[in-house]
Amino acid sequence: MTSFINTARSHFPSLESGYIFADNAGGSQCARDVVDKLSDYLLRTNVQLGADYSVSVTSTRRVAEGVQAAATLFNAGSPDEVAFASSSTMNMENLARALEGDVLSDEEIIVTGEHEANVGPWKKLAHRKSIQLKYWRPRISSPNNPYSIVLDVEDLLPLITSKTRLVAFTACSNILGSIVPVKDVIKATRAKATKEGVRKIEFSVDCVAYAPHRRIDVQDWDVDYAVFSFYKVYGPHISALYARAASLHSSLSPLTHHFLRVVDVSYKLNPGGPGYETVYAVTGVLDYLRALAPTGTDDLDAAFAAIAAHEQALLDPLLAYLRQREPRGVRIVGSEEGGLARAPTLSFVVVGERPIKSKDVVKAFDDKGGVGIRYGHFYAHTLVDELEPKLDIDDAVVRISLVHYNTVEEVTRIIEILDEVLA
Ligand SMILES: Cc1ncc(COP(=O)(O)O)c(C=O)c1O
Repeated sequence: MTSFINTARSHFPSLESGYIFADNAGGSQCARDVVDKLSDYLLRTNVQLGADYSVSVTSTRRVAEGVQAAATLFNAGSPDEVAFASSSTMNMENLARALEGDVLSDEEIIVTGEHEANVGPWKKLAHRKSIQLKYWRPRISSPNNPYSIVLDVEDLLPLITSKTRLVAFTACSNILGSIVPVKDVIKATRAKATKEGVRKIEFSVDCVAYAPHRRIDVQDWDVDYAVFSFYKVYGPHISALYARAASLHSSLSPLTHHFLRVVDVSYKLNPGGPGYETVYAVTGVLDYLRALAPTGTDDLDAAFAAIAAHEQALLDPLLAYLRQREPRGVRIVGSEEGGLARAPTLSFVVVGERPIKSKDVVKAFDDKGGVGIRYGHFYAHTLVDELEPKLDIDDAVVRISLVHYNTVEEVTRIIEILDEVLA
């Protein structure tokens, strides 16, 4: 194994057992640095923030460090643009509530059929305000595979009118694995909206399935709102939300108690305080990721470049294997193309003359033991429900989702088991 993978794996005690964690889009393993910080907070500085006594001063500083770490991971301009909640679903619901007063009754919201976290809150907002909701639907990318769907900005642009107020989409699908070119999508959409004479358009980007694989850059993307969950990025169960300073100032109403004078800071999106120990613990995620950069550089961009390079080595053989089993009835759900525009999250179904239920493919893995994969719609309910030919929504797809701490040897083992299942 290379020094990259050795370094990566040495941070995860859970990997020492040899168990193959291949459901990482569901939740990643937690790095030791994170757990050390979490326990140190609880064991030594577990007091309320904001008081003048010394331990409280330390806790306040520690939590501020956690907020700064999340801001760094977003590449936000300021930690005042970062809010926390127990989950990304909660963060999005909070955001939709806070935005409600700045959405006019004749405006429109555009969503995708991806994970409901960045869809449901907007559907509910549209319902509360009786405004129009439109869907940016995926298109088929390989003519021989009806499930080879991808989002293409060319299908979004015709939906943009002078009434478009918000576009909500995912930077990476937790089922399809494809990485959406966020910067290009936002740029093209803003240009179209300006041409149409829009009053105000904002973008909400779900980065939950993106953050473990690629570096987020909210400034470069020119995005207004972005969210990810640390429990999928080697950390604890907590989610961070980025809200651009200008949006905090002019689009969002406070969800906080009336006497807390929070005007332009992200705390206005926190109806209650986040778990302090988990906020401090996320500093361990940043430390861990930086440790993956080539020796001595500590550079996050270099760390993510190393992650992407290793993940390509995991993706290529698995994707090639699944494509090669097309005559057996294997259909990849998502793009059949490899390359950097794809995370190693691979979903598929087995159809044709000898179909196999997704549940049974996963059961074969469970029976063998030693590998964790999963089946289902993974809360991208609309996306799966709209596939044609129709799939049983409860059985949906088999998903194998890898991250940089998985090894090429683990992929070989997964392919061996698949080969037996598909015999
Ligand atoms: C793409 C995507 N978005 C959002 C979520 C929801 O995250 P949370 O569990 O933090 O609400 C998930 C969880 O699986 C996800 O994969």
